[in-house]
Amino acid sequence: MLGIVFSEFVDMVEASFSADMVDDILDDTGFETDGAYSTVGAYDHQELVGLVVALSKRTGISIDDLVQTFGQHLMVRFAERYRFFFEGVTDFFDFLKSVDNQIHVEVRKLYPVAELPRFVVRDINPTTVVMEYHSSRSFENLARGLIEGAADYFNQPVSISMETKKEATDQKFTEFTITTLP
Ligand code: HEM
Repeated sequence: MLGIVFSEFVDMVEASFSADMVDDILDDTGFETDGAYSTVGAYDHQELVGLVVALSKRTGISIDDLVQTFGQHLMVRFAERYRFFFEGVTDFFDFLKSVDNQIHVEVRKLYPVAELPRFVVRDINPTTVVMEYHSSRSFENLARGLIEGAADYFNQPVSISMETKKEATDQKFTEFTITTLP
């Protein structure tokens, strides 16, 4: 996982809790990196999971909630940092459809070591899409937070439900049903 994701996580913990909390969870996990994440570096995604677990233990907030909130935060930061992916896009569903075949494709060009999920988006009706999240990393709550963050960015009230499904190969994936609300 890219260093930019770790730095954003550390920034969020500092802003939402404190700099001491950042030090504490780094101490709890004892990873060698010790918070010195280079924005151009890449680290084991399990290290992020470890930091979230430590934060959950110290705050009593569930891991799923922390990861989801981080997804919302990350979308705000992506919109600031990578403005060009958002320019000219006015429709929330068009944006969701562009993640797999445009945005993440460009992300891979910028960062060849990026570990990206795969998405399949299908229209159900004019107000509902289904978005399948496929990844070996099980960051479905991060995906959910990113989708919520994107809905906020487009000022689009939504309801989102998620369901775990299985491929024919037994591999799990998550299906998000996303409905725009008036
Ligand atoms: C609703 C829109 C989006 C969703 C649901 C989404 C979802 C995700 C998820 C879940 C991951 C974690 C990796 C994994 O699960 O396998 C990820 C990674 C990433 N995404 Fe997206 N993404 C979205 C839009 C964007 C946008 C707009 C950017 C802007 C540049 C972006 C850039 C990245 C980057 C840099 C990573 C990290 C890759 C790594 O650490 O190796 N994504 N995305």
